[in-house]
Amino acid sequence: MEIRVFKDKQEVAKQFSAYFAELTKGKEVFHVALSGGSTPKIVFDELALAYGDTIDWSKIHFYWGDERCVPPTDDQNNYKMTVEHLFSKINVPEKNIHRILGESDPQREAMRYANLLEIYLDREEGIPQFDLIILGMGDDGHTASIFPHEIQLWEAKDHCVVATHPDSGQKRVSINGKVINMAKEVAFLVTGATKAEKVDEIHNTREGYKTYPASLVHPKSGKLVWFLDEAAAPNP
Ligand code: 6PG
Repeated sequence: MEIRVFKDKQEVAKQFSAYFAELTKGKEVFHVALSGGSTPKIVFDELALAYGDTIDWSKIHFYWGDERCVPPTDDQNNYKMTVEHLFSKINVPEKNIHRILGESDPQREAMRYANLLEIYLDREEGIPQFDLIILGMGDDGHTASIFPHEIQLWEAKDHCVVATHPDSGQKRVSINGKVINMAKEVAFLVTGATKAEKVDEIHNTREGYKTYPASLVHPKSGKLVWFLDEAAAPNP
């Protein structure tokens, strides 16, 4: 695990964008699962601004680690956010965008998406393998849409599961922990003071840290990078 701490969100966005450009350079095909929520917005804006004209987007296939079960027109929808902050600014072929259908029945969509991953991705030990999975972390220590109150979903046998947000009850489709930990590389994007307590508990293995799904992210490849701003960084 590698921890990279930068002064603020903008610097995290700049540094992650450079990391992404380097990782994808020269690749004939690159399969990346995106995170949702608000943190990626500034990152996607920077990625489009700094590398929109230099990355060959025709080689990049986009997926999501999770999606809210709402239509793609809903402001809660991660695909919609990604269109606004990235896809609307770069030349990416529509066929390279594999969104989770938030408007569909959650159980059916979880099965459809799991099959889609099996079709598009190579499998390692029977698990679809991404080149990169980008993750965020909730204030409660959730990641993708595996929440502490449903941490058993981490080990679900299906590649994709239906999760329930603990406060809103909103249904979500999420990849499980086995898919996350089979990725060739995983990058956490975590910024802001509200994340600091959980980041510190996880990184300093404080009492109870194992109850947070984010603490279970340990890719078999060993390639895990945490991109943090100073506000979210753990105590030394
Ligand atoms: C989602 C995400 C989720 C997110 C965290 C952090 O669909 O919400 O995939 O795992 O990364 O909740 O969200 P923020 O970046 O908004 O704090």
